[in-house]
Amino acid sequence: MPEQPIKIPVQLSRLPLHDHGTWQTQVATPAQALPPVNGELIPQGLSIKPLLEAELDALLDIEQTTYSNPWTRGNFTDALKHGNWCDLLWQDQTLLGYFVAMKGHQEVHLLNLTVHKDCRSQGLGLLLLNVLLSKSLQEKAQWIWLEVRVSNVRAIAVYERFGFRAVGERKNYYPLAPGVRENAMIMSLRL
Ligand SMILES: CC(C)(COP(=O)(O)OP(=O)(O)OC[C@H]1O[C@@H](n2cnc3c(N)ncnc32)[C@H](O)[C@@H]1OP(=O)(O)O)[C@@H](O)C(=O)NCCC(=O)NCCS
Repeated sequence: MPEQPIKIPVQLSRLPLHDHGTWQTQVATPAQALPPVNGELIPQGLSIKPLLEAELDALLDIEQTTYSNPWTRGNFTDALKHGNWCDLLWQDQTLLGYFVAMKGHQEVHLLNLTVHKDCRSQGLGLLLLNVLLSKSLQEKAQWIWLEVRVSNVRAIAVYERFGFRAVGERKNYYPLAPGVRENAMIMSLRL
């Protein structure tokens, strides 16, 4: 874990995020979507790669410093075993963030989206969502679904900015404190 905040040496403002006003609405069609995952989508200096077992320590470091109820090593290895997408965003040897998503029938379920605490609010969460969207479109998915704690206003704002909309709640979905649980907001993005 670096002691200094991580500086991203790329112009994230050049990401095509702002060009896609349609994402602010309910629907983004494949025709309006980003190009496939390639050099155009990932800014120079950053890379996205599938999780390797050897990288689990770096990932768990971020996971454990982010969540009160972090995923365990076993949760991540199970996710890998079951063929879920576990994609990591790197700047050289430094892990900046990751997402885990499960493919279903014409839909994708986002299970985990995390950005290193020292490099949030620089567009990296949106970049990871861009990659997820692009992969989902390649799989011809119709929807992306996710759950988020109702108290996680920051994440909800990022998802809404990307185009997700609240479609319901799951009661007492997340542990909050001993004997206390918190509702999840269910959000979806129609592709
Ligand atoms: C939620 C989370 C993944 C969002 O990641 P992030 O990298 O902080 O989010 P982004 O920077 O992409 O979010 C957009 C913000 O960046 C700004 N931004 C910076 N560069 C940008 C760009 N090129 N394009 C668009 N927005 C940009 C936006 O204005 C917005 O600003 P704000 O912070 O004032 O709202 C991250 O905060 C996190 O890991 N939180 C803890 C874990 C968590 O809650 N995960 C979700 C569980 S469901």
